[in-house]
Amino acid sequence: MDATSQRFLMCRPTYFAVDYAINPWMDPTAPVDVDLAVRQWEQLRQTYRDLGHTVEEIAPVPGLPDMVFAANGGTVIDGKAMAVQFRDPQRADEAPAYRAWFEAAGFEMHDPKHVNEGEGDILLAGDVLLAGTGFRTAHASHAQLQEVFGYPVVTMQLVDPRFYHLDTALTVLDERTVAYLPEAFSPGSRAVLRRLFPDAVHATLADAEVFGLNAVSDGRHVVLPAQATGLAAKLRDRGYETIGVDLSELRKAGGGPKCCTLRLRQGKASQ
Ligand code: ARG
Repeated sequence: MDATSQRFLMCRPTYFAVDYAINPWMDPTAPVDVDLAVRQWEQLRQTYRDLGHTVEEIAPVPGLPDMVFAANGGTVIDGKAMAVQFRDPQRADEAPAYRAWFEAAGFEMHDPKHVNEGEGDILLAGDVLLAGTGFRTAHASHAQLQEVFGYPVVTMQLVDPRFYHLDTALTVLDERTVAYLPEAFSPGSRAVLRRLFPDAVHATLADAEVFGLNAVSDGRHVVLPAQATGLAAKLRDRGYETIGVDLSELRKAGGGPKCCTLRLRQGKASQ
């Protein structure tokens, strides 16, 4: 299996907090250790660097505790960046901050017409854009994504509020394969996943509950929460190298490694 060197965007959790609850994992009464969150995040960044990936950083903004979840900052494919529009007002101000970063970095900008939470819900799998809906990203945004990026968009209906973003229920392993939690999807979406990815890895609820599917793969190495031991074993059986990371503090906000990581895809030649 070949690893592809990646370019990622991350945001240090300097102002991380759980001040509000917009998903079932968030409990604003539970204490959060920001220093530990930063150390865990630095460990994730180091893991990517050790794998030979490039990590760019966007400056964190005070008062935006969820800005660490860079996957929600946009969708970036073939040098085009689609900005985001959050469902919840608490995260609204993250959108212009990320938009400004993409613009300064020279990406061709596109603005969302509907709620669209970026790579949290929009995942490129080979030549197909898998697009989640049900909790955050609006179904109406899927047509715009197809128009902007020119990849066929396949709608994935999420049904379990614990797996509110597509990237909590499904991970793209390489051009041909994904891993997912079947029960997080509607029956129709499950049938589509079976049709598109007959060799997919099926995760258990226990692995999904520790954000095991919130993983980042370069085609060979899969970075995933250390607690997702069952999924890691299945992936190793398939020939992937797994690297466990501990993001227990960020999990208190309902996020894992993939949530902290936005893939920046340049033109096809220089992905
Ligand atoms: N607290 C954040 C929210 O609910 C977590 C976002 C996690 N990001 C992700 N890509 N799944 O919006």
